[in-house]
Amino acid sequence: MNSGLAGQRVLVTASSAGIGFGAAEAFLKEGARVVINSSNGDKLDAARAKLAPLGDVHSVLGNLILKSDIEKIVQQATDQLGGIDTLVYVTGSPKPGRFLEFSYEDWRAASDLLVVSPAYLTRLVADRMLKDGTRGRMVILSSYVIKEPTLAIALSSVCRVAMLSLVRTLARELGPKGIRVNGILPGFIKTGRIDQLAQDAAKRRGIKPEDYVAELERDIPLGRIGTTEELARAVVFLGSDLSSYVSGASIPVDGAVLRSI
Ligand SMILES: NC(=O)c1ccc[n+]([C@@H]2O[C@H](COP(=O)([O-])OP(=O)(O)OC[C@H]3O[C@@H](n4cnc5c(N)ncnc54)[C@H](OP(=O)(O)O)[C@@H]3O)[C@@H](O)[C@H]2O)c1
Repeated sequence: MNSGLAGQRVLVTASSAGIGFGAAEAFLKEGARVVINSSNGDKLDAARAKLAPLGDVHSVLGNLILKSDIEKIVQQATDQLGGIDTLVYVTGSPKPGRFLEFSYEDWRAASDLLVVSPAYLTRLVADRMLKDGTRGRMVILSSYVIKEPTLAIALSSVCRVAMLSLVRTLARELGPKGIRVNGILPGFIKTGRIDQLAQDAAKRRGIKPEDYVAELERDIPLGRIGTTEELARAVVFLGSDLSSYVSGASIPVDGAVLRSI
């Protein structure tokens, strides 16, 4: 199937590593022009150098929890590409831990990262698409914990729920203008985040990080953690016209780890 992405303009946030990097790589392989972003200049430069052989890739340094940086990311990406056809919104991770460990400041920081940032950035991209008359797409990456809270990552479990409603709200608001908005709920995907969770579990429970990973895999019906390439195929589907009649959906890509219906 032809994704029709050749020459399309794609912004992928939080993409110097992990899920975002995998998505940027996949769009470049489809011939899209891509802007990547992250908050660490060295990591961002290294990621851009790694992606450069695949095609037309640009980068914008910016922290997704800062208002002025969110504005800079959208403005510079638009300038570099001449507009945005597909936004892939990925963000950083709040710190792991259980509910009773967190302070007021922790909740504020997690809300900035997982509620305010996606809402404000998609708002700016929507403004731009509407101004340009672009019949674009947005793909908002969150987590399967939206459907099934996980006690060891309470900040993520509580705050990310807003992203489920954001997808529906935007899809209904922007659908009449030809803009489609969908979400992806990743399960466990092999990235630095899994290493972080394994280290955290090891510290708390006195087990080895690899035992935590083995425990996770026993709980995943497909028997293993997924790869960023497998996740990126779903992002390309929702971020292209391959999914032309899909909007407002939030699709798990999780090896069936999610139990709820
Ligand atoms: N991996 C999983 O199994 C999994 C499952 C469900 C949900 N998720 C969520 O998916 C998202 C991506 O996770 P990942 O697994 O790809 O993690 P990762 O491998 O640690 O990558 C995180 C990426 O986000 C960037 N980043 C972090 N904070 C940022 C900020 N404030 N502003 C801009 N960029 C920022 C990092 O770059 P810099 O350090 O250069 O800023 C890096 O490129 C996270 O929200 C994570 O919680 C992951």
